[in-house]
Amino acid sequence: MPWRGVDDPYRIWLSEIMLQQTQVATVIPYYQRFVERFPTVDELAAADEDEVLALWQGLGYYSRARNLQRAAKLIASEHGGEFPREPAAARALPGVGPYTTGAVLSIAYGVRLPAVDGNTERVLARVMGIEGDLSRGPAKRTVHAIAAEAVPDSRPGEFNQAVMELGSTLCSPISPCCERCPLESLCVAARTGRTGELPTPTVRPPVERRKAAAAIVRRRGRVLVVQRPPTGFWASLWEFPWVDVTNDGDPQGSLVDHVRGHLGLGLTGLAPLGSLSYGIMNRRYALTAYGASSRAGRAPAAARWVEPCELAALAMPAPHRKLAERIV
Ligand code: ADE
Repeated sequence: MPWRGVDDPYRIWLSEIMLQQTQVATVIPYYQRFVERFPTVDELAAADEDEVLALWQGLGYYSRARNLQRAAKLIASEHGGEFPREPAAARALPGVGPYTTGAVLSIAYGVRLPAVDGNTERVLARVMGIEGDLSRGPAKRTVHAIAAEAVPDSRPGEFNQAVMELGSTLCSPISPCCERCPLESLCVAARTGRTGELPTPTVRPPVERRKAAAAIVRRRGRVLVVQRPPTGFWASLWEFPWVDVTNDGDPQGSLVDHVRGHLGLGLTGLAPLGSLSYGIMNRRYALTAYGASSRAGRAPAAARWVEPCELAALAMPAPHRKLAERIV
C-alpha cells in the first residue's frame, strides 16, 4: 500500500477517502495517478473539477471526489494548506465524517481517536461477542464505545490500521482464519464457534430488478452525450440519454419518448447494439443500448455532440463508460 509509511496528512486523507467502499487493489493505481497529478492540497484546490472527476472515473461514488476538492479549497484558504489537527475542524470539512477524522488524525498526527470502518465493526463484534444489527441502534453504539476505549495512547494510528486490516484479511465475513489470528484466544466468537453468527447479519431490502435503455445517437460522425445536473445522483457526469423502463414497458418506445420530451430530438432507426448489467444500491439494472440517428432539432445546453475519440476525456458513470468503450 503506497500510503503506508507516508506521514503527509494529505496523502493519508486521500487514501482513506478512496478506500471507502473500494478495495485496496482497485485504489492503488488511482491513488498513484492522483498524487502524481496533484501532489499537494494546494494543487488539488486549484484544479479544474472536470480533471479531478476524470481522474476519479471508475472508482464510483463521485461525491467523494467533489467533496475532496471542496475540502481541499477550504484547507488551502482557511488552514494554511495543512489538514486540520483539531477533530472538530476536520469534521467540519465536506466528506469528512467520524471515520475519516479518526483515521487521518490518528495515522498522520498520532491523535488518540478510533477509526471504525466495516472491518473494525466485524472484528470487534466477534472479539467482544456483541449481538445485534451493527448498522444502527445499541449494537452500533456499543461497538463504537469499545473502539474508542481500546485505542492506546501510543501509536493509535497503527492500532486502528491493525484492527481494520485484521478485518480485511484473517477476520473475513464468511470464512475467517481463526487459527492464524493473534486474537483467537480472547475472541468470544472464535472460542464459542460462533463466527458464522457474529456479527448478526443486517437485514437488507431485496434486490429490485429493472430494465433500462440507452441511446447511442449519431449525427455526422458525432455522438450525443448529456451532462447530468450538478447535484444528486451521478452529479455533473456525462452520459448517453437513457431511461429507466418499468419491467413490462417497451424499452424502445420509452427511449424515443424520453429523448423527444427531454432533449427535443426525434430518434429514428433504433437498433439494439448490446447490453450490460450494473447495480445501484438495491437495484440491479439490465441496460440495453440502441443505436439511433436523430432528425434535425436543437439539443439543449446540457447536451453535446462529440467525436467518439473525445469520450475518453469526459467523466462518465461506469456503465456509460463501458458502453463508450465497447460500442461507440
Ligand atoms: N481500510 C481503510 N483504511 C485502511 C488503513 N489505513 N489500513 C488498513 N485498512 C484500511
